[in-house]
Amino acid sequence: MTESPGGLHYAFVHGVLGASRLEILTRLSWPSSQNFLVTQGVREGMSCLEAGCGAGAITRHLQGLLGKGGFVTGFDMDEESIELARKKFSDSRDVNFRVLDLEINDLVFDQQFDLIYCRHVLEHLSDPEASIRKLTRYLKPGGLFVAQTIDCEGQYCWPDNAAYQKSAGLLARIIDIRGGHSDCGRWLPSMLRKLKLLRIHVEVENLVYLEGEGKLFVPLTLEALGKGLLEEGLLEKEAFRQLLSELRQFCNESDSIVSLPRFVHCAGRKPC
Ligand SMILES: C[S@@+](CC[C@H](N)C(=O)[O-])C[C@H]1O[C@@H](n2cnc3c(N)ncnc32)[C@H](O)[C@@H]1O
Repeated sequence: MTESPGGLHYAFVHGVLGASRLEILTRLSWPSSQNFLVTQGVREGMSCLEAGCGAGAITRHLQGLLGKGGFVTGFDMDEESIELARKKFSDSRDVNFRVLDLEINDLVFDQQFDLIYCRHVLEHLSDPEASIRKLTRYLKPGGLFVAQTIDCEGQYCWPDNAAYQKSAGLLARIIDIRGGHSDCGRWLPSMLRKLKLLRIHVEVENLVYLEGEGKLFVPLTLEALGKGLLEEGLLEKEAFRQLLSELRQFCNESDSIVSLPRFVHCAGRKPC
């Protein structure tokens, strides 16, 4: 189990399975993340602090977006992910990584950043508002805070399917049991307002798939939750296997439709 020193733990597996799942999530959802960042004013030359960067799937894209003169400092609580990220970027001088737990460690950086980006992390934190407060101390005056998180309520399929519904419920359940908030996206804008960020902007998307990698991502997500579901006693091993097989079968049907949870993108600026 990936446990932070305070005893909170992340719902998904890390390692190769976790990292390859995040690579797929990146392919599915980076285009809209990028569009949101660009419309909020992210441009070449900016410095960026990426919180919860995992093995660096998004870091690569941030590096491209920030281009010449830009750089990214990424951190994650998981040592193995940071090791994978360091290997991937061993030739890059404009990217560096640290192992840090946002909820446990004091954050100490020797500079402030133009952009702080936090993608699919806040839902796993016990007190996302406190973590955003910590992070925005390292935002330059006028700098941009951007987060993308989920609202598990947005999950649906067609036709109705018991395996899909059950695994959608389990995703929300384990995030909550492990100390996070599966509905984080709904109150994210109000957190930024409380922290006195300005020009808050929010967009919601609900990705839905009839075929392709997006459809396969749904059973892959259940697979990546398997270890946690067993550890928390939410399913027995045999019931988990059965559920995964039924979900795969449903996703292999050519006319079934599955959605991911709603993704909520939110941005705000630190007062000058
Ligand atoms: C769903 S992944 C998202 C990774 C990446 N941001 C992306 O969008 O692909 C969530 C990441 O947040 C990290 N994480 C969760 N809680 C954390 C904490 N308290 N401090 C630092 N990282 C954390 C996990 O280890 C994991 O790598």
